[in-house]
Amino acid sequence: MSQTFKALLVDQSEKRNFTCSVVTRSISDLPDGELVVKVHYSSLNFKDALSAIGNPGVTRNYPHTPGIDAAGEVVSCSDGTFVTGEKVIVTSYDLGMETDGGFGQSVRVPSSWALKLPAGLSLKESMMLGTAGLTAAMSVQELVDNGVFPESGQVLVTGATGGLGSLAVAILAKAGYGVTAVTGKQEETAYLKGLGAEHVISRKDLLTGNERALMKARWAGVIDCVGGEMLAAAIKATQPWGVIACCGLVASPDLPINVFPFIMRGVRLIGIDSADCTMALRLLLWGKLANEWKLDQLESMVDEATLSQLEEKITLILEGKLRRRTLVNLLNS
Ligand SMILES: NC(=O)c1ccc[n+]([C@@H]2O[C@H](COP(=O)([O-])OP(=O)(O)OC[C@H]3O[C@@H](n4cnc5c(N)ncnc54)[C@H](OP(=O)(O)O)[C@@H]3O)[C@@H](O)[C@H]2O)c1
Repeated sequence: MSQTFKALLVDQSEKRNFTCSVVTRSISDLPDGELVVKVHYSSLNFKDALSAIGNPGVTRNYPHTPGIDAAGEVVSCSDGTFVTGEKVIVTSYDLGMETDGGFGQSVRVPSSWALKLPAGLSLKESMMLGTAGLTAAMSVQELVDNGVFPESGQVLVTGATGGLGSLAVAILAKAGYGVTAVTGKQEETAYLKGLGAEHVISRKDLLTGNERALMKARWAGVIDCVGGEMLAAAIKATQPWGVIACCGLVASPDLPINVFPFIMRGVRLIGIDSADCTMALRLLLWGKLANEWKLDQLESMVDEATLSQLEEKITLILEGKLRRRTLVNLLNS
């Protein structure tokens, strides 16, 4: 095994200007950990883009290689948890935040962060899903565990053409739910219907009537990727005892709302934190993603990029303009 590898490196100049370049790094520069993985695939998430522009809520120490997702082959494992050549998935925990991440051809991490690739998924498919897929699966599982079933009514997904949103639409449809997708890109209606959405509405449609404390109850469940006024509107229009999985903040971290939906309709707002998802839940959900929630249309949801093509994708995801999820191919980089 070569002691050097290619990686995207984000560095910081004196004036907090952050630059990305593809460089050769050495395994000896990676943080401590029992497990060294030769990374075959990673994927681009919104959080990676924040790390690449120096967002201190994600990464404080530079130079740094982002990438909260990695899947590949075990090179060595000093505590014997995995054997050389075994295929593993590592997502989140601290990967790509302060720990050099999957936008490099090697990662070194604690062995407790990795799980064996489940039967029924390839390494490539696992990273087409990545953290976005795991988070979507966590959200669907919360609906199930809290009594929202396909017969309960429509489930709303916001930020529907994004990585997390599109996978949430597809997994919900696969699990038998009726899905309403909200998007700012009406030209993507056919794409969203192809993923299984029954209805596609605009952000404006969702917000109509949002000045009221309670709106007409429409949603049995909600998976929200955007936060802010759209999350508030979704909560106000959730049916009695409905469940909202709160995942993201691309529109805003604020939640402008009062308590009426909670105390008059028993609506339940549930936070989703995939970074600290327990290993037991990860194993359950990756098992479902490889079996009953396995998506037939996964290939059509993804564009592939090499390390040198990533910077352009990072700009687009930050502008909310990226189409499809980005699979990062480290084997061809
Ligand atoms: N809680 C967790 O564990 C967890 C895990 C993964 C991701 N996340 C969070 O989930 C969010 C989505 O992540 P992602 O990787 O899927 O990002 P993404 O691919 O950029 O998708 C976000 C989507 O939100 C919509 N959007 C963008 N800007 C918007 C705005 N100003 N107002 C309303 N909608 C807007 C767009 O979809 P449309 O054009 O279709 O509306 C966009 O495609 C991020 O905040 C991320 O940090 C959280």
